[in-house]
Amino acid sequence: MLDEMNNNTLSEDDKHRLYESAVQCNEGDISFINFQYEAIYNKKPLSLREDFGGTGMLACEWVKQGPNHTSYGIDIDQGPIIYGQKHHYVKLSEEQKARMNYIEGDVMADYSFKSDVIVAFNFSYFIFKKRNELLEYFKKVRAGLNSDGAFFVDIFGGIEARQELVEETVHDEFSYFWDCDKYNPITNECLYKIHFKTADNKKHRDVFVYDWRMWGITEIREIMEDAGFSKTVTFWEGEGEDGTGDGNFYRTDEAENCESWVTYIVGLP
Ligand SMILES: C[S@@+](CC[C@H](N)C(=O)[O-])C[C@H]1O[C@@H](n2cnc3c(N)ncnc32)[C@H](O)[C@@H]1O
Repeated sequence: MLDEMNNNTLSEDDKHRLYESAVQCNEGDISFINFQYEAIYNKKPLSLREDFGGTGMLACEWVKQGPNHTSYGIDIDQGPIIYGQKHHYVKLSEEQKARMNYIEGDVMADYSFKSDVIVAFNFSYFIFKKRNELLEYFKKVRAGLNSDGAFFVDIFGGIEARQELVEETVHDEFSYFWDCDKYNPITNECLYKIHFKTADNKKHRDVFVYDWRMWGITEIREIMEDAGFSKTVTFWEGEGEDGTGDGNFYRTDEAENCESWVTYIVGLP
């Protein structure tokens, strides 16, 4: 199937639209953040910094929660930011717009504001391949959190995640392909690719390519601790009747081995 695919000929708009619809779920992310933050601090988080924010879809959604909610979406690339401004920011009221800020910048830069919550979702911090680089990033995050703040990352793994295979998910108007193209068991470096097949039956290869290091949960906790986080909390996904994940994540330090998993880690300053 993949051999028949063309090179990516999607417009910039289409590639972000398809990505968001295949990969992102703001509602689930926001309710998880709110629930877990409230469980820790007994109050609602108000300010959010979305690192590697891409189109800033989550940051735009965040400010809709109430008049005291503020957000920043930080991305180094102008392309997704322009898409987000055209498709998400534009739909906010004037008053909401004043509370949401796009920053075209590096997550490694020093920022003068602090946030209740910082997120790095869709495994974006896997771009840091060296422990020292990740440590530096986590230190910057910690410095950017309020004293009653929380840093949320997601993480994936399992035997299947390391196998060179292509997984297809069929959506109403397109198919999404998650392709583990390479995995190096010595360095844990991996190359993942996203392809799409659109409704006109055109196939678009390598729409997004990620050259990452696959980190493990324990490594992330230890690096967070080395960066000064006082506590880390790990979660695992509950199981539905069919044996697949049910979308509900609970706190735990122990889990059953499974072929492929996605979960969250929270670091507290
Ligand atoms: C996998 S996308 C994540 C998009 C979105 N946040 C999500 O959850 O799906 C990774 C994004 O990180 C951005 N990025 C990569 N390196 C960065 C850096 N050093 N600072 C800020 N953004 C960066 C890329 O431009 C890209 O938009």
